[in-house]
Amino acid sequence: MLRRPRRNRKSAVIRDMVEETRLSVKDFIFPLFLIDGVNQKVEVASMPGIYRFSTDLLLREVEECLNMGIKAFDIFPAYPESKKDKYATESYNPDTFYLKAIREVKRQYPEACVMTDVAMDPYSSDGHDGLVEDGKILNDETLAILGKMTLAQASAGADIIGPSDMMDGRVGYLRSLLDENGFKEVSIMSYTAKYASAFYNPFRDALDSAPKSGDKKTYQMDPANLKEALMEAELDVGEGADFLMVKPALAYLDVIKLLRDNFDLPISAYNVSGEYSMIKAADDKGWLDGQRAMLESLLAIKRAGANIILSYFAKEFALLQKA
Ligand code: PBG
Repeated sequence: MLRRPRRNRKSAVIRDMVEETRLSVKDFIFPLFLIDGVNQKVEVASMPGIYRFSTDLLLREVEECLNMGIKAFDIFPAYPESKKDKYATESYNPDTFYLKAIREVKRQYPEACVMTDVAMDPYSSDGHDGLVEDGKILNDETLAILGKMTLAQASAGADIIGPSDMMDGRVGYLRSLLDENGFKEVSIMSYTAKYASAFYNPFRDALDSAPKSGDKKTYQMDPANLKEALMEAELDVGEGADFLMVKPALAYLDVIKLLRDNFDLPISAYNVSGEYSMIKAADDKGWLDGQRAMLESLLAIKRAGANIILSYFAKEFALLQKA
């Protein structure tokens, strides 16, 4: 046999040399959940190891992560029902705790890259990403609200805004609004191909943001569709997105690869809450080795073509690298 592929697997040193994909802490954006109050750190029941922090403790968490090499954070707020309304008004109240926390993170840690979420669901009494009228999600009317939210987040110091709402035309709309208001430097990471997925449930627990009626299928994509992701990506590129995101990640590696092969923008992938919780639950039951399953999953996402990974495992990964 002239070709014996096993020769390149015979020692750890050689295996390391021939490794085609390598993960680095620099690949990650760490999603963090924020709540109002002081000195609060509440574990999300369906996401062991993941907490909802009040601003003071979120700042400590950011500092700890920065010291481990995680430099980018996607911050999501959880609002009590009393702050929610039909128009998501709280999302652009300059004194709301979410915007104040973003200001504070940027003031104390200017080197941290802060991404914010643009969608109505955490603030909406209907629990939808857009404005609901007679059971329908209104597209263009929602854009105006997303616009106010975006400007408020940009004013608070967001480096990247992440429209996760899936309304048509929002990237172009938000890009011009940002430019007209002096925020030319604020980037847009578009949730380009965001699928209507069963894997978001633990996140909705974390934020108490599940839809009050219906589902998200009239705006999030059908898991059956691949070509549609190409169309969404073309639109986002044309509308000025800086990054294209695929979400969820693990059941959509083909979508990551497709966008990687067809577009020159950086591709990010959101390793979502359910993907995290499944591994944690199986590990807890002793059915698999959670750490190895985590590393294998993250590697697969990068191998498929993602330059950037949003993952609840980011900190755990960074801790392992340090060890
Ligand atoms: C809402 C939003 C969701 C996630 C990020 N932004 C949930 C949804 O669309 O219902 C999910 C993230 C996760 O599951 O980790 N705009």
